[in-house]
Amino acid sequence: MLWLQVIFLGSCLPLSFGAPTYQRKSSKRTYGNATESQYRANAVKEAFQFSWHGYKTYAFPHDELHPVSNTYSDSRNGWGASAVDALSTALVMELPDVVNEIIDFIPTINFAVTSDQVSLFETTIRYLGGMLAGYDLLKGPLSSLAVNDSNVDALLTQAKNLADILAYAFDTPTGIPHNGLYIESKTTDNSPDNGLATTGTLVLEWTHLSDLTGNTTYADLSQKAESYLLNPQPASSEPFPGLVGTNINITTGLFEDATGGWVGGDDSFYEYLIKMFVYDTSRFKEYRDRWIAAADSTIANLTSHPTTRPDLTFVAMFDSTRLILESEHLACFDGGNFLLGGEVLGRQDYIDYGLALVNGCHDTYASTATGIGPEVFSWDPNSVPADQSAFFQANGFYITNSIYDLRPEVLESYYYAYRITGDTKYQDWAWDAFVAINTTTRANSGFSEIENVNTPGGGAKDDFQESFWFAEVMKYAYIIHAPDAEWQVNSEGKNKWVFNTEAHPLKVAGPPI
Ligand SMILES: *[C@@H]1O[C@H](CO)[C@@H](O)[C@H](O)[C@H]1NC(C)=O
Ligand SMILES: *[C@@H]1O[C@H](CO)[C@@H](O)[C@H](O)[C@H]1NC(C)=O
Ligand SMILES: *[C@@H]1O[C@H](CO)[C@@H](O)[C@H](O)[C@H]1NC(C)=O
Ligand SMILES: *[C@@H]1O[C@H](CO)[C@@H](O)[C@H](O)[C@H]1NC(C)=O
Ligand SMILES: *[C@@H]1O[C@H](CO)[C@@H](O)[C@H](O)[C@H]1NC(C)=O
Ligand SMILES: *[C@@H]1O[C@H](CO)[C@@H](O)[C@H](O)[C@H]1NC(C)=O
Repeated sequence: MLWLQVIFLGSCLPLSFGAPTYQRKSSKRTYGNATESQYRANAVKEAFQFSWHGYKTYAFPHDELHPVSNTYSDSRNGWGASAVDALSTALVMELPDVVNEIIDFIPTINFAVTSDQVSLFETTIRYLGGMLAGYDLLKGPLSSLAVNDSNVDALLTQAKNLADILAYAFDTPTGIPHNGLYIESKTTDNSPDNGLATTGTLVLEWTHLSDLTGNTTYADLSQKAESYLLNPQPASSEPFPGLVGTNINITTGLFEDATGGWVGGDDSFYEYLIKMFVYDTSRFKEYRDRWIAAADSTIANLTSHPTTRPDLTFVAMFDSTRLILESEHLACFDGGNFLLGGEVLGRQDYIDYGLALVNGCHDTYASTATGIGPEVFSWDPNSVPADQSAFFQANGFYITNSIYDLRPEVLESYYYAYRITGDTKYQDWAWDAFVAINTTTRANSGFSEIENVNTPGGGAKDDFQESFWFAEVMKYAYIIHAPDAEWQVNSEGKNKWVFNTEAHPLKVAGPPI
């Protein structure tokens, strides 16, 4: 216990445990200090089990827990989003009781029924991704955890049922889907356009569903939609090679703007370009080439160093060729994505750039009163709020939205940085972040969104625990300390699994790199 308190008080300092230094490309890699790692992994498991118990007690089978008031809500159509999102984390944590509770439940979900609007994107990444990852893990390395084998087969059946219900979304003049669906009437919100991320973050899950079922329709639908993003028109919507606008006209397939970045609304389109290549190196070379174009333009044209902290590297947003010096917690997946690309493509420049971005996002955590980074931040020297000028001077950014919504992206990038470099500094950063999150966001029965990362204690708790708390925050915080396993990111780029944008690991289909 004393040891724990020492760590807690020193949570903003990098910790060193004297672990051996990792040599890149060595086959005799060791993964840090096993005793220390096991202690940390168990602490994350405790947080998972605490919040799972709260969800089971006060919210299941609804979508999410309100952890302050011990109530629930159904923001994801009432199909039990937290349960489905928790499955692949309970699996990698090897918690058979939780796994079997969830897979007993999934066959009972009726995906045909909901009066609320369905988001094709959110439903794909959370529910479809969650069930497919559960299926892959339970048909593969974790098969011993399932008590009832028909529940395992039901994961794929239910994934197919869900996709069959959603598939009419693609029935448009171009094949670019509508994102807002009313499935009971098979109608849509009639939006004239769809977004870059909502269109471009379907192809991994829908292609995998085709590969598992042998029905090519799902892959064909998602790849047809993606084709407009891979070949953007008009030319003005691609202000830098590979970097494109945000809204696409569903009727014409034309982009409507040239505004974008690695931020929310665009983010996982770029993420999936390289992940499709990891998924199948033979089928998705064009995706790889588009990722390389985007990565090269990002390095050449979007790299930005704050005037007050030129040692830090952030990625700017763009409006055509004009840069906007603002970023987000959501964008902090970018370091991890550059690291993944660098490793699978054997490109040290992408790895180095990824590490610089990881360092920048670490700064957004290490600078605040809670040790957690903000939702949105800026480093534009021309609009610094007076009350943050000292903060900007010291830390290289200032806060423009101070909430923390239990997002995973900073932990996610630490995970890639650790797996790919072997530098235990990134495990220490992940531990610091976990301890800060555990301290600041823990509520009565789970963990809550908080209002202000830069006030001691985090300010008011917003009484909401997103389902991605289970899928992502808990998973990345855990697996960075967990023993090596086939689903872990491979330090030599020979990945057998690839994580979807909700952190659900999917078994890759193609030949190894
Ligand atoms: C590993 O971590 C444990 C617990 O923190 C510590 O007691 C031990 O000395 C460490 N071992 C090495 C080789 O650093
Ligand atoms: C196994 O699961 C199926 C649904 O997948 C269910 O119908 C069956 O009753 C379960 N069997 C047992 C023994 O619980
Ligand atoms: C494949 O899935 C599509 C989409 O749900 C469906 O319309 C089609 O009948 C299926 N094809 C086969 C051969 O099962
Ligand atoms: C999309 O394209 C259609 C057909 O050209 C056009 O009528 C519509 O105004 C466009 N919508 C937007 C939002 O640009
Ligand atoms: C992007 O950066 C490259 C390399 O510095 C430069 O040649 C190119 O002009 C830049 N593109 C734009 C649109 O500024
Ligand atoms: C997380 O918070 C709980 C409740 O305050 C505490 O018991 C536990 O020790 C904390 N875990 C860590 C690793 O700080």
